[in-house]
Amino acid sequence: MVDQMKTLDDYKKAYKNSVENPKDFWGKQAENFVWYKKWDNVLDWNFNEPNVKWFEGGKLNITENCLDRHLDSRGDKTALIWVSNELDGEDKKYTYRELHTEVNRFANGLKSKGIKKGDRVVFYMPMVPELMIGMLACARIGAIHSIVFAGFSSQALADRVQDAEAKMIICSDFNNRGAKKIPVKAVVDNAIKMGCTSVETVVVHKNTGAEVEWNENLDIYLHDLTANVDDYCKPEEMDAEDPLFILYTSGSTGKPKGVVHTTGGYMVYTAYTFKNVFQYQEDDIYWCTADIGWITGHSYITYGPLLEGATTMMFEGVPTYPDAGRFWEIVQKYKVNQFYTAPTAIRALMAKGDDFVDKYDLSSLKVLGTVGEPINEEAWIWYFEKVGRRSIPIVDTWWQTETGGIMISPLPLITDMRPTFASYPLPGIQTILVDTEGNTIEENEVEGLLCVKHPWPGILRTTWGDHKRCKQTYFSAFPELYFTGDAARRDEDGRYRIIGRVDDVLNVSGHRIGTAEVENAINETPGVVESAVVGYPHDIKGQGIYAFVITKGKISDEAEFKKLVANTVRTEIGPIAKPDIIQLVSGLPKTRSGKIMRRILRKIATGDMSNLGDISTLLNPEIVEEIKRKAKNK
Ligand code: PRX
Repeated sequence: MVDQMKTLDDYKKAYKNSVENPKDFWGKQAENFVWYKKWDNVLDWNFNEPNVKWFEGGKLNITENCLDRHLDSRGDKTALIWVSNELDGEDKKYTYRELHTEVNRFANGLKSKGIKKGDRVVFYMPMVPELMIGMLACARIGAIHSIVFAGFSSQALADRVQDAEAKMIICSDFNNRGAKKIPVKAVVDNAIKMGCTSVETVVVHKNTGAEVEWNENLDIYLHDLTANVDDYCKPEEMDAEDPLFILYTSGSTGKPKGVVHTTGGYMVYTAYTFKNVFQYQEDDIYWCTADIGWITGHSYITYGPLLEGATTMMFEGVPTYPDAGRFWEIVQKYKVNQFYTAPTAIRALMAKGDDFVDKYDLSSLKVLGTVGEPINEEAWIWYFEKVGRRSIPIVDTWWQTETGGIMISPLPLITDMRPTFASYPLPGIQTILVDTEGNTIEENEVEGLLCVKHPWPGILRTTWGDHKRCKQTYFSAFPELYFTGDAARRDEDGRYRIIGRVDDVLNVSGHRIGTAEVENAINETPGVVESAVVGYPHDIKGQGIYAFVITKGKISDEAEFKKLVANTVRTEIGPIAKPDIIQLVSGLPKTRSGKIMRRILRKIATGDMSNLGDISTLLNPEIVEEIKRKAKNK
């Protein structure tokens, strides 16, 4: 088991040591795992190419570390508690031994369909145990999993399957989500029709049992795949730098990119951060409410907790079904000790009133966590007072799909807390702030661009199939630095406060969405000439999506047309990217070189019309008046 800091002094020593001797520091953490062969070199790196290698030459399998090595000491301990969407549904528990068997059987099933080391397997599944079992089964045999959040559309799924050239898709028949039943398999069928030619097999997990269309050439039920397989599958020997998974995420340009994480470094980093940020103790029940389709679910529902032999929970449903007390009902029922959620959920529950939280016994809680977006002070205080009953530390954890694990966070009862501050960098994380020229900002209380100057084991290694894009996006803005895309400021004690993205990436309910993606989708609507999408502050979602749309000629039924635009976005990306506000305009403010002036649109979308800056240099300054007049957020 990796080290656990207990005191402020431990943190200070660990941080100092991690900066002065990063190889010693991480090498020592890595010693705590099972390696088939020890590494030759802890770290080799440069941020120019970029080329980062942790534990080079080391051989291992992450599932050996998540499962096998716990069997003697924790074989009968609960590894996973799965909570059903329904209040009276049948929850499920898996001990480490049971989870091990399920993963091994699933892995043998995958092998029987010809899946082998290096093949890509896409998952498009709701929050069911088979998703966790399946991803671990891939890791067992060295296949690279790529999990696509099951709220994405067929088109978005097809884009990802094609980019990864996946050999297999694993899905469910239907998804239970709150009061809805969502036809998951039908979305996959549609994606296949869009030309996913690399796919040889579609594995269907019988979830609700409802009837689905069947394609004899591709489809097989999961229970048939694993009907006659062995209970043991020898783990594939992986190199520390072999890819473990691809996870697609949005950037400021083009289609989402496949962030690649490798095996050894990701393992060490997720285990270390899990154990320290949540201060996990052997008998604790830990619950992260994220979806496994996002990085938070990968690192802090599956890998981090299982690596540390924890009891991890997985919830199928939504926080407001059957009512806004559901989270707290589950915390009470399972005596949850660590609870990790997103600010958007906190704000949504806060808006429903205190009665839903007041009536539950939450005395088991020891640590509360948030992730995914800046938490506003009001939500932080509500979380602290109502859920934490004023006595439980909150860890506001800042990190990204690309970082693999938590980077900046308070350590519960070890470092102090300041509402809305993600606080201090974890050991191994050498954060700095720079100005737009790349000069280091030494002063406190000055806003700057958040960068990291030394690799940590969980850093992304590349973007799938396009290493140049990885360099361009993260390592080109400033020489020798990883650029996060976020702005932040530091207080006089060294705590960081994350301000938000400085690129064209929106954060809507904690979901990362590129404005370019939404614009491309809108532009697919018949009758649309051009569009520009910006974010604006939204009480519950954090940011809402505001779309300015130029149409071909006059539209007779504006309301109908806006519906059409919204539906196109739903079809192209998924409901999470649907604009909250659509404003039809006759033009967009542009510079003389034809660039859209988003700065002006952002101000208009925010309702801040007073000071739009100098617009006289625009190609079409008159358009600004028209847009302002019809703006929706005045
Ligand atoms: O802007 C930051 C915001 O979420 C972005 C990363 O999104 P994603 O890759 O989807 O990963 C989310 C879950 C790790 C960041 O660039 N963000 C994440 N955590 C915080 C945050 N903003 C403020 N405070 C946080 N704690």
